[in-house]
Amino acid sequence: MKRSEVKYLLTEGKVGIEVLIKAWVRTKRGSKNVSFIALNDGSTINNIQVVVDMEKADEAVLDRINTGACISVIGRLVESQGSGQNIEIEATEVEVLGEANPDEYPLQPKKHSLEFLREISHLRFRTSTFSAVSRIRHAMIFGIHEFFNNKGFYNIHTPIITGSDAEGAGETFKVTNFELNEIPKTEDGEVDFKKDFFGKETNLTVSGQLEAELAAMALGKVYTFGPTFRAENSNTTRHLAEFWMIEPEVAFADLDENMDLGEELLKYIINYALEHCADDLTFLDARLVDEEKNKKAEERSQMALIEKLKFVAENDFERVTYTDAINILRNSKPNKKKKFNYLIDGWGADLQSEHERFLVEKHFKKPVILYDYPKDIKAFYMRQNDDDKTVRAMDILFPGIGEIVGGSQREERMDKLVQRMNEMDVPTYELSWYLDLRKFGTAPHSGFGLGFERLLLFVTGMGNIRDVIPFPRTPKNAEF
Ligand code: 4AD
Ligand code: MG
Repeated sequence: MKRSEVKYLLTEGKVGIEVLIKAWVRTKRGSKNVSFIALNDGSTINNIQVVVDMEKADEAVLDRINTGACISVIGRLVESQGSGQNIEIEATEVEVLGEANPDEYPLQPKKHSLEFLREISHLRFRTSTFSAVSRIRHAMIFGIHEFFNNKGFYNIHTPIITGSDAEGAGETFKVTNFELNEIPKTEDGEVDFKKDFFGKETNLTVSGQLEAELAAMALGKVYTFGPTFRAENSNTTRHLAEFWMIEPEVAFADLDENMDLGEELLKYIINYALEHCADDLTFLDARLVDEEKNKKAEERSQMALIEKLKFVAENDFERVTYTDAINILRNSKPNKKKKFNYLIDGWGADLQSEHERFLVEKHFKKPVILYDYPKDIKAFYMRQNDDDKTVRAMDILFPGIGEIVGGSQREERMDKLVQRMNEMDVPTYELSWYLDLRKFGTAPHSGFGLGFERLLLFVTGMGNIRDVIPFPRTPKNAEF
């Protein structure tokens, strides 16, 4: 007999048919006469109930069935007698594929803390919450590729090992095959990278942008979707050392078109989730309501998860210049009452997430696109405005998250770009290939980076970025 998946049986299974399923035990309960086993095989958030008649059952087999065990069941699909499900399986044969000793299995049929689950990442896929997040993560990846494919973008694989630090922030992980206690030195005592694997200093990429620009200047519209690595020591709920980023790059697009693309992409993916992940979102929506009960009234979110997703998908984002945002912040209550950790006293300050979240959650009450930032707080490649103070940067800020997208129109003018690189001590000789784009057939172009896990935080309503990636890498943590 062919194995059926639980999702299929729950949605399309016909009462009366004989079925075979293989799945993991979520709970087992029962009496002398009958045993109820809730099974899940990952195909859906919902479990299927198996009913075992104890008179016909082999008790030795049933004794080996505990939470976490994997079993195979043959039986008949019947209408359920109990509440909570429409159909269930009346078992005729039960086989144990893999036991889970109840004294050792760490997951019990009760609620575990997310912190605890992070310590057992190899088993946390078995929980309802994390399996829901995993399925949504998959759907989001699919939706993102669909969005760009529908629009005629080409997906580009940019390198993971690179010689450049696109953001110039110096937060790179080095890549070397030197023996670490025998690093070759030059006569001046410097590390002799000529002897290293690539014959030069290399690191893991912090962004695929610079290489994506090369492709955009020939293919027109491209995007990357790859892992990026940052050795920033930020132990926050929003930062990972290894995260995934979506980076479109579009020839001939100016900053307005870049903002349009970012807003359209975010709305598309959120709608994609609402359409394709309804069961998982319903579960996470209820989970969040439950979580919020433990919070103080003023810390609770104004909207439930699904309501919030619909709100963002249906309403225009607010577009505000950095300068206007600073004026709003400077005159805001938390600034005047010194409630911000970083008080805003003048133009030019970098915005912290507390400021971003004030603008989004308290002031505008919707996603905000901030643009035209001071050049001194942004990367060297952004196009300079005529005011000599600001650059054509844009960040998209989301409720509960802060920055979710960072992007800009790129500086396509050779002289301006070289001048900015010199001012910011970015070595031009290392990026000669990047400068060549401005030498041969330069054109205005724009792009941005969307942090995939930050998007997932928003869509799933999870509070910690470590809970939306299967194997989080953070300072002092690279287990599994
Ligand atoms: O603002 P960032 O640093 O922009 C860039 O890297 C540009 N080169 C992108 C481009 O224009 N092609 O990062 C982009 C986004 C952020 O808005 C944030 O969502 C996410 O990447 N991000 C992180 N996500 C998780 N952990 C971290 N440590 C992150 N750092 C950035
Ligand atoms: Mg940024």
